[in-house]
Amino acid sequence: MRIFIAGSTGVIGRRLVAQFVDHGHTVVGLTRDDRGDDIVEARGGDPYRGDLFDEESMIRGAKDADVVVHAATAIPTDDPTPEEWALNDRVRREGAHVLTTAGAEVGADQYLQQSIVWVARQPGGAAFDEESPLDPDSITQSAVDAEEIALEAGENYGFDVGVVRCGYFYAPDAYHTRAHGEALVRGKQPIIEGSEDAKISRIHASDAASAFVAVAEAGESGVWHAVDDEPVSAAAFSTSLAEHLDAPVPKRVSAETARRSVGDIQVKLLTNPMLTSNSKLRTEAGWEPAYPTYQDGLNDVVETWGEEGYLP
Ligand SMILES: NC(=O)c1ccc[n+]([C@@H]2O[C@H](COP(=O)([O-])OP(=O)(O)OC[C@H]3O[C@@H](n4cnc5c(N)ncnc54)[C@H](OP(=O)(O)O)[C@@H]3O)[C@@H](O)[C@H]2O)c1
Repeated sequence: MRIFIAGSTGVIGRRLVAQFVDHGHTVVGLTRDDRGDDIVEARGGDPYRGDLFDEESMIRGAKDADVVVHAATAIPTDDPTPEEWALNDRVRREGAHVLTTAGAEVGADQYLQQSIVWVARQPGGAAFDEESPLDPDSITQSAVDAEEIALEAGENYGFDVGVVRCGYFYAPDAYHTRAHGEALVRGKQPIIEGSEDAKISRIHASDAASAFVAVAEAGESGVWHAVDDEPVSAAAFSTSLAEHLDAPVPKRVSAETARRSVGDIQVKLLTNPMLTSNSKLRTEAGWEPAYPTYQDGLNDVVETWGEEGYLP
């Protein structure tokens, strides 16, 4: 198949290019600069310089594509401003609109939308699945909107739409995983009181990418949760990563203190359960994680860092 990927240079996107190519597909990856071209080419894809917000540009990029993938996000990192979040919203909503239109124009069979399991997190912390009612907040609302834009486009244009909702992902090259490791080594990554009992469904970015490949090859429409087999609390995840890195045992801080340094959204994320399962993805798309637990995934993270000479 020919796959057009927006977001092909990101943490998940780089893996999408490599994995689709490994499975014998032809990949065209949207890029915006020389660095992006190098990333896509190094993984066996063809870079296409274009503008996500320009319909004509995306129609040209998606020419002859069987599958169009929207894996672009602009999630801000340190101390985000409202303008940065607004850009992320635009990438999600307008990106979904432009890419579904391009998919229809070029006669694609399937459109895949990256989303996040957060959107279906239940207020009381109960476990949830793909059928659960959605409960977005101000940041995840645009992910819900992108899902709706995609599903509606599938009905209007007659192509399959797959929504792949990823758990809280981590990877050796993800900004937040690296920042986490660095802060642990400096003794500056405390555990928030209350996070010990709040298990969260997570996923290694390579397994998030392989979920897209499985759904593309299954050629189905639907919503799937891409998470590993063992939800883990932020406290246990941090403690395990600290042990791997021979870092100091993380200190405990109250939620109130943490709120002052990392903000309310992050504290809520880490102190409330987010429990879902991959059983629908396994059954319907034949997907299996390469890293079924966070211990398996953290071994890979730390091994990769060791090979790169990153962190002591
Ligand atoms: N989802 C989670 O679980 C989670 C949790 C905490 C933090 N994060 C952080 O969120 C980020 C998410 O990773 P990711 O793979 O989704 O994103 P990423 O690694 O930041 O990559 C984003 C992708 O979207 C593209 N993109 C951004 N703005 C674009 C635009 N206006 N037009 C076209 N393409 C655009 C980027 O292209 P360029 O390379 O050209 O910029 C890149 O290919 C990471 O930094 C991660 O550390 C994620």
